[in-house]
Amino acid sequence: MAPLVKYTTLFINNQWVDAKSGKTFETFSPNDGSVIARVSEGDKADIDLAVSAAKAAFHRNSEWRLLDASARGRLLNKFAELVERDIQYLGELESYNNGMVLGMAVGIVQKSINGARYAASLADKIQGDTIPADGDLFSYTLKQPVGVCGLILPWNAPILMFINKVCTALAAGCTVVVKPAEQTPLTSLALAALLKEAGVPAGVVNVVTGFGPGAGTSLTHHPDVAKISFTGSLEVGKHIQQAAGKTNLKRVTLELGGKSPLVIMNDADLKLAVPFAARGVFGNQGQMCFAASRLFVQSGIYEQFVEEAVEFAKNIKVGNPVDPGVEHGPQVDREMMAKVLGYIEKGKQEGAKLMCGGKRIGSTGYFIEPTVFVDVQDDMIIAREEIFGPVQSIFKFETLDEVIERANNTNYGLASGIFTNNINNALHFARHVEAGNVWINTYLASTAQTPFGGFKDSGVGREKGIDCVDEYLEVKTVTISLQKEF
Ligand code: NAI
Ligand code: MG
Repeated sequence: MAPLVKYTTLFINNQWVDAKSGKTFETFSPNDGSVIARVSEGDKADIDLAVSAAKAAFHRNSEWRLLDASARGRLLNKFAELVERDIQYLGELESYNNGMVLGMAVGIVQKSINGARYAASLADKIQGDTIPADGDLFSYTLKQPVGVCGLILPWNAPILMFINKVCTALAAGCTVVVKPAEQTPLTSLALAALLKEAGVPAGVVNVVTGFGPGAGTSLTHHPDVAKISFTGSLEVGKHIQQAAGKTNLKRVTLELGGKSPLVIMNDADLKLAVPFAARGVFGNQGQMCFAASRLFVQSGIYEQFVEEAVEFAKNIKVGNPVDPGVEHGPQVDREMMAKVLGYIEKGKQEGAKLMCGGKRIGSTGYFIEPTVFVDVQDDMIIAREEIFGPVQSIFKFETLDEVIERANNTNYGLASGIFTNNINNALHFARHVEAGNVWINTYLASTAQTPFGGFKDSGVGREKGIDCVDEYLEVKTVTISLQKEF
């Protein structure tokens, strides 16, 4: 049975309200293309209201600003408890609207709860320094919340993105306006209801559903927004950085995907490497910023690896994401499905060898077969652009130095990995690869405690980890004269 959809309107100042224009848009189930609900289409007028609520909630005398830091932490822990209470429902709603396999969706909600608790634990540990400044001076620093933050979310892991960004911003003491992706508005609204239930004061968290042009651009251009945190495409990330400089100088955190290399050395344990490489690119139907979309296999094991990788891909169980045993659901929407199928065609045209998959499955829902290409060359389009779909591209290499050079030959730099039993080779790779994350004999291992973000075009700033709140803080230096007349 489909999960109940309880909220479909905007959430501003702890109230559920229609868009000023009265407009709504349809949201779909990618499993069969059916309409789930109509959701309010927020635009500039609604963003203005939401930002003004967030600004009022940020006033120095507001209930929120006067809360003890430890009380902010307790509110976030209360929220984490409520998410845990509703974990099954939230997982089902995520799966329904996004197409994520249910078991994975529930697992990601659990990961998000860990993130919320981690952020909660940081709320009362935001401390400045005392500084031995030259002269008869005493200096100390205060770390203070930056202000109203615009949080723009993607559709590939909506709950995780919402909880990580919102809880970090709130731990820092900021107030926020969230703009979920148009494909997946429902779980953000459900989470807003839980924040209200937890007791977060009005105006601290606002959610405006709608489109990028419209709600998104109004947020990035708003003069009262101090910071934007965005996860999504490189193209929009560049727009956001420009918009952020237009009205006021907004701080930006950008997480923009990648073309991440995973290297399998001759001495790797294939029983580990084959499944990790597969899950690293087929997980969530390949809709992962850190997907291992360039798989480099050393020549000594190339043939054997390819054989096992193709066998693995062929045996992935595709189907309705809520059915038990299903490992692979639909792409999020028709547009993304078409984009991925387009890349598969380009791969074939450019001479990469298709070993399995490559086609859409059925005609309702947006399913694509897990696809493996071999003999992929570095200059092919499928080797350079982010596909964001279930396409494993396998490259052959001879030496570690060669593969580091080729791994770094990309504008992206989000994640990377290496499977080897030689510690020196692993650490040499870790030192020289240009990526924000390096996984050794594992892949996709990212927790609340570990910083996440990209080099180069993969983004600006880091999320998660002990310094994550710094992205939402300003440092204020206070200097006092200690000069005394004797
Ligand atoms: P997108 O970057 O257009 O959308 C992400 C979010 O940005 C959505 O909330 C959208 O409404 C908003 N947005 C779009 N244009 C905006 C603008 N001008 N100003 C402010 N906000 C705006 O991503 P899209 O079109 O959904 O996917 C395109 C590609 O982006 C994917 O195929 C994939 O390669 C990449 N992507 C990467 C993600 C990641 O995790 N880093 C997540 C989603 C997409
Ligand atoms: Mg887009």
